[in-house]
Amino acid sequence: MAIEIAPINGFIGAELHGVDLSRLDDAGFAVIHDALVKYEVLVIRDQARMSLEDQMAFGARFGPLSVHPFSPNMADKPEVIVLDYSADHPAARTDIWHADETFRPNPPIVTMLRARVLPPAGGDTCFSSMSAAYRGLSERMQRYIHGLEARHDFRPFRSLFGDSAEAKAKLRKLEDEFPNPWHPVVAVHPVSGRRVLYVNPQFTVAVRGMKSDESDALLGYLYGRASVPEYQLRVKWQVDTVVLWDNRSVQHYAPHDYYPARRSMERVTIAGSVPIGVTGEYTPETVAGLGQVNPGGPPKKAPVRQFERAA
Ligand SMILES: [Fe+2]
Repeated sequence: MAIEIAPINGFIGAELHGVDLSRLDDAGFAVIHDALVKYEVLVIRDQARMSLEDQMAFGARFGPLSVHPFSPNMADKPEVIVLDYSADHPAARTDIWHADETFRPNPPIVTMLRARVLPPAGGDTCFSSMSAAYRGLSERMQRYIHGLEARHDFRPFRSLFGDSAEAKAKLRKLEDEFPNPWHPVVAVHPVSGRRVLYVNPQFTVAVRGMKSDESDALLGYLYGRASVPEYQLRVKWQVDTVVLWDNRSVQHYAPHDYYPARRSMERVTIAGSVPIGVTGEYTPETVAGLGQVNPGGPPKKAPVRQFERAA
């Protein structure tokens, strides 16, 4: 059966039709792989036939599956994270823009979620294209951030550890295991070649070589780029909807708007490669992305304000 690709908007995301992930052949996988690189987020509905094993096997076609060091991994399948939130167990801090696990030297390339239990209302997931976000910057800003690097940290997970000596020792061990990596502020997607704004408010902590107030101001501005509606899509889940996203080029945000209802998802994550940044002197990006940022050219000249009139 031919796979039909229906773009969700001009910038990010496509819904696939005619896909059965429980029986995907090589040709079907190639279509999905290429669509993921192009559209950055794929939504595939009605995958009731897909077992957990099928989901893992599908993920493994992209590359080795990874095991999250802090998340609730399934006991007999540590590659699967069960995100099961309810009244007694409110969501961890997922309501912040982020790419998954950028505290690793080699963050995941793809993350995949399958919806199992959904709240009666709410529980959507928002995505934002960071390749569109890069293209939306002025050339002046693109030049400024060209070649910068930023430090990442597993900061939000630190609260999982208590104050006991044992907990502190465990935290120290994890700090040794996951020392703060430097990642490029502008990464280059290894397949599409698109440039990607690669800082996020969940894990990025500082820009190399800047004073902390300068770094905070720059990062604060760049984080805000994920909030531009044109670069976004919002997935309304149904049970057995599968969504996969290219973690190298999008950020996501899970609004926590369904408490105390239950929402349960199964996540499989594909291990990553070290992000590569832009190098050398600035040159404008030559690889096309989806959607046209700033259509109509530069903004028109603002009307002259009274106090700016020539005498
Ligand atoms: Fe996430």
